[in-house]
Amino acid sequence: MEKYIINGGKALFGEVPIIGAKNAVLPILAATVINGGENTISNIPKLKDVEVMIKILTSLGAKVEDNGETLSIDSSTINNVSLPEELVREMRSSIIFMGALLARFGEAVLSYPGGCEIGPRPIDLHLKSLRQMGATIEESHGFLYCKTKGLRGCDIQLDYPSVGATENIILAAVTAEGITTIRNAAREPEIIDLQDYLNKAGCRVKGAGTSIITIEGVKELFNCEHRIIPDRIVAGTFMAAAAITKGEVILKNIVVDHLQSIIAKLKETGTTTITDKNDIKIIGPDKLGPIEMLQTLPFPGFPTDMQAQFMALLSIAGGTSIINETVFENRFKHAEELTRMGANIKTFGNVAVIKGVNELTGAKVFAKDLRGGAALVLSGLAAQGVTEVENVYHINRGYENLNLSLQRLGANIISV
Ligand code: UD1
Repeated sequence: MEKYIINGGKALFGEVPIIGAKNAVLPILAATVINGGENTISNIPKLKDVEVMIKILTSLGAKVEDNGETLSIDSSTINNVSLPEELVREMRSSIIFMGALLARFGEAVLSYPGGCEIGPRPIDLHLKSLRQMGATIEESHGFLYCKTKGLRGCDIQLDYPSVGATENIILAAVTAEGITTIRNAAREPEIIDLQDYLNKAGCRVKGAGTSIITIEGVKELFNCEHRIIPDRIVAGTFMAAAAITKGEVILKNIVVDHLQSIIAKLKETGTTTITDKNDIKIIGPDKLGPIEMLQTLPFPGFPTDMQAQFMALLSIAGGTSIINETVFENRFKHAEELTRMGANIKTFGNVAVIKGVNELTGAKVFAKDLRGGAALVLSGLAAQGVTEVENVYHINRGYENLNLSLQRLGANIISV
């Protein structure tokens, strides 16, 4: 199994282009099911999760042509509405096919996407909303059998602004009879990207990026070309890498507005951030400062997907910091691993108290999930001596050759 070996202590310098966003590309690839036509999606990141998504599309009968950074997907040939169980287990986001397949065929069968390493992650909001729109969903022997004679637009009040549930409802609603309104919708930039793709294909979706989204069902859809937005979490991770190594790194092709909460918290650590249109320069301070309170929240709050990377930063800050993880339960598995490297972190339920230490020391550590794994790489870059990060496959789900990008910035990191 692949692992990273990092010889820490080198400041990062240089430029890094930011790839297309994983959390935008996954729902958009699922959405290509709906138009029953040709889709050209560009700025595709080379990620494990994208590979799984392509396998699912192919298993449904779609023709997928991989031209490097562009995927051509012909969904007219789809002739199957059952998702392969092993692929659904590999990637929780496959739940998003439920809305897409219901919109196109009025039918979908998939296995229950079981729990995950960052907490229970239920799908009750997805099921409740789709049922409200007129889908019958039977849960039996670990499978979800979804059927409808025709979805109807309706008013949906989400109890929580779930990203996945918001996307699933939008997809289901695009061909439904009448108008669907989602209140307390998730406001993440990836939902705006999904809206943009869908509207180019002939759908009528309005309001993404706000808490109220309306979708007017349409009868006819078209072929479509779309470019995926840059990945704000990959960008945030490189920003943290520059800060933790006292380096100076320019990120290219970003959307500054997507990064405001991360920029604000980096500034609190004493990191300098200079933005220029679609680029941002990060200059790490000689000594990172602590953050009094870092609370994860739905967008535009601070992203839970950056919590682990900031814990790595704060573990060598000059003072005590508090993190309150409000989005997911049980998302502190990296704390234990950081402690092996000399960090002083105590967790109490969803709260972590981090007392900054002078330096981290290299150790053998295990990536237990995607972002936690990235946090261990950051710690390894800053630590004295050699860090071995095992289970790199978690990291490959969301980062494209992270080791090579870091090498180009001067890091001493190899993959074995
Ligand atoms: C998406 C992102 C993930 C990110 C998360 C929060 C993708 C592919 N993944 O995940 O990287 O960490 O948003 O920003 O875009 N919940 C329920 N019932 C539901 C649905 C969700 O209770 O039916 C809860 C979850 O358990 C969690 C919270 O709502 O505690 C947020 O989940 P959600 O926004 O749905 O995250 P995902 O869409 O799974």
